Amino acid sequence: MRKILLTGANGQLATEIADLCNSSDRYVFLSRKELDISNKQQIASTLAKYQPGHLINCAAYTKVDQAEQDRDLAMKINGEGPTLLAQHCVKIACKLLHVSTDYVFDGKGAKPYKVHHPVDPVNFYGYSKLQGELGIQEIDPSAVIIRTSWLYSTYGHNFLKTMLRLGADRATLNVVGDQWGSPTYAADLAKLLIDICESERLTQRASGVYHYANAGKTSWAGFARKIMEYANLDCKVSNIDTAAYPTPAKRPAYSVMDKSRIKRLTKCRIPKWQEALSQCIQKIKGN
Ligand SMILES: NC(=O)c1ccc[n+]([C@@H]2O[C@H](COP(=O)([O-])OP(=O)(O)OC[C@H]3O[C@@H](n4cnc5c(N)ncnc54)[C@H](OP(=O)(O)O)[C@@H]3O)[C@@H](O)[C@H]2O)c1
Repeated sequence: MRKILLTGANGQLATEIADLCNSSDRYVFLSRKELDISNKQQIASTLAKYQPGHLINCAAYTKVDQAEQDRDLAMKINGEGPTLLAQHCVKIACKLLHVSTDYVFDGKGAKPYKVHHPVDPVNFYGYSKLQGELGIQEIDPSAVIIRTSWLYSTYGHNFLKTMLRLGADRATLNVVGDQWGSPTYAADLAKLLIDICESERLTQRASGVYHYANAGKTSWAGFARKIMEYANLDCKVSNIDTAAYPTPAKRPAYSVMDKSRIKRLTKCRIPKWQEALSQCIQKIKGN
């Protein structure tokens, strides 16, 4: 059986995949040090060494605000890196599964974005991720691009972890209440990616862009309130407007995505965001 290679091994998504694949030796996890996706030679020698049948790209430059300043680096990792991976994957018939973002949309919509909805990112992170999507699609139409949103996990740095820390310290918190999206537990996305790789049928049939996030929608403030509730934290969360919380990078006001294409492909049950959040918090508490 050909190997499944994963990049960005220390990130939250790759760590969730590692948790689920029970240290099967089919999976090879490579950190940035072991495989820098912006390094052409390293990609070539790594793929030559492992001859993988699948490559799941979990590596990315994910600092949304910092990307406004760090444009060259963000573009190298999010734009050029995935394109290089695609160039090398096609040469050895390796199925590329790449993860992208809801931030490719401008956020002006009011109903869930379908996969072919026109993209128009409002920040540089979204722009750099879009260049990665386009680069892959030009080279490898059989590659799978899964856009996800508001990712959190028991691992790494994310909104959930920040809220748990602040909620333990403070009695009140102001959180943006006019940006809408779908929080996504990285473990659910990890399962989807594994399911595709482990199924010959899905591997063959899947190609192009898909949307995957947990079901339902909320605002960051709504998300924060549920976190406080499920974690039993006595912290009152109030809504504030985006204008009252300026950040270097603009965010789309609405980035809920339509998941019908991935549902048609995999027939997967997509957990509601509240159910997924509750599971993740239970795991953090050690239950
Ligand atoms: N987080 C979100 O809210 C969110 C939302 C939508 C989409 N996504 C997408 O989901 C995917 C997974 O995100 P995540 O939250 O798991 O990210 P993450 O926790 O920030 O992990 C990203 C990993 O990529 C590694 N990396 C950075 N540059 C690299 C390079 N040149 N070569 C190889 N590895 C490199 C990082 O290594 P170091 O540890 O050394 O920095 C880090 O371990 C990404 O494609 C991201 O764009 C994320």
